Amino acid sequence: MTCLHGRHAEPLLFRGLTGDNWTLADYVSRGGYEQFKRILAERMPRERIIDEVRASGLRGRGGAGFPTAVKWGFMPKDHPGQMYLICNADESEPGTFKDRDILRYNPHAVIEGMLIAAYAMGITAGYIYIHGEIWAVYEQFGEAIRQAREAGLIGRDLQGSGFDFELHAFHGYGAYICGEETALLESMEGKRGQPRFKPPFPATNGLYGQPTTINNVETLAYVPFIMAMGGDAYAALGRNNCPGTKIFCLSGDVARPGNYEVPLGISFPELLELAGGMKDGLAMKAVIPGGSSSPVLPAETMMQLNMDYDSIAKAGSMLGTGGVIVLNETRCMVKALLNLSRFYWNESCGQCTPCREGTGWLVSLIERIENGQGKTEDLDLLDNVAANIMGRTICALGDAAAMPVRSFIKHFRAEFEYHIEHKRCPEASGPRE
Ligand code: NAI
Ligand code: SF4
Repeated sequence: MTCLHGRHAEPLLFRGLTGDNWTLADYVSRGGYEQFKRILAERMPRERIIDEVRASGLRGRGGAGFPTAVKWGFMPKDHPGQMYLICNADESEPGTFKDRDILRYNPHAVIEGMLIAAYAMGITAGYIYIHGEIWAVYEQFGEAIRQAREAGLIGRDLQGSGFDFELHAFHGYGAYICGEETALLESMEGKRGQPRFKPPFPATNGLYGQPTTINNVETLAYVPFIMAMGGDAYAALGRNNCPGTKIFCLSGDVARPGNYEVPLGISFPELLELAGGMKDGLAMKAVIPGGSSSPVLPAETMMQLNMDYDSIAKAGSMLGTGGVIVLNETRCMVKALLNLSRFYWNESCGQCTPCREGTGWLVSLIERIENGQGKTEDLDLLDNVAANIMGRTICALGDAAAMPVRSFIKHFRAEFEYHIEHKRCPEASGPRE
């Protein structure tokens, strides 16, 4: 884990964390649970919390960037039955590895965020769905829940306020698709993890058909900080009209890969500098700015951009999860795309034909080019297959598989054509492995 450097701003979530100071006592010594206790002691009106979150400009940090206060506002005010809050910790987007570090280093910030969110929406039951391949994190989080329960922060009539909240950890089994919120619900209900049609959205028909809010780990973990400093002050931490802070996961050909908590809207060159710049002094060829589902951008475009939702979208990609994958000049773009496409093919749940068949077709075509058997017309065919997947599937995985293909061909067509003509990588991409 790497933290924000002082000259940019003090980190919030990652401040002073060592890996050994994650317990309840450590969190309390840093001012932890003060906000939740204050809310209970003041019997704070729910709407005031939602207003504070609205002022903070917080948007879902799981990738979609949906405004958090708007999502919370969708929950019914007078539902007679059970409602649920779920923390989505099924992070598995390639290039994204922030949530597991938040859970590992600062689990009580997530629990306090859930408590405040549950209070604000009048929810009394919560789950955290933890990706199945991070078992140690799941066990440690269970211990954090136990500590909070023993301290009277989870359970019935919390701090004598009359507010009840039960929280349980649930481990998934490692399927990427279970991070899609409705597949996650199916999985929790004991069914095969396959996405449902939306609408209806979970806010009305969620877990066991009841109103449910599903928020990402990072989103919830920022809530106590927003309540402590106030929504406006949190928003002011961002740059260039982008509110707040964000954890970016830097990976690929950078000197110091890791998680960097920085103001939203920081320029890409600054972020790259925090990660030590390019490894081995090689030049940058391309960047996937927001996890593997986001379209790739050429280095020269990225170097002009700020890291915020609008700037990245205007350049034709997405801020997504903030998983920034940097590729140097020696990387073969055909091979990189093949790697990504194989991932989506493997992870497709198979429910819809365009995704189930299309992802496999994409892989066959890219493999053919990579193996030196590609034909000139394959590039248009690839683009056509990808275009016919987009917008025709139940969940976003179809689009996520198609978008990289279209962007790789758009920006690096010459490299694909070279492969087809010469049956190998251009010299600058280095030797074939
Ligand atoms: P979405 O845009 O469909 O929904 C975003 C959120 O807003 C959901 O919780 C949805 O229920 C809610 N929402 C939207 N409109 C609503 C309405 N009218 N009423 C009530 N609720 C509403 O996006 P989705 O499919 O949830 O997420 C896609 C994104 O997830 C991708 O863009 C990608 O960046 C990201 N992703 C993240 C992964 C990770 O490991 N963190 C893995 C794969 C994808
Ligand atoms: Fe399943 Fe793919 Fe359809 Fe999503 S788009 S529901 S992963 S087949």
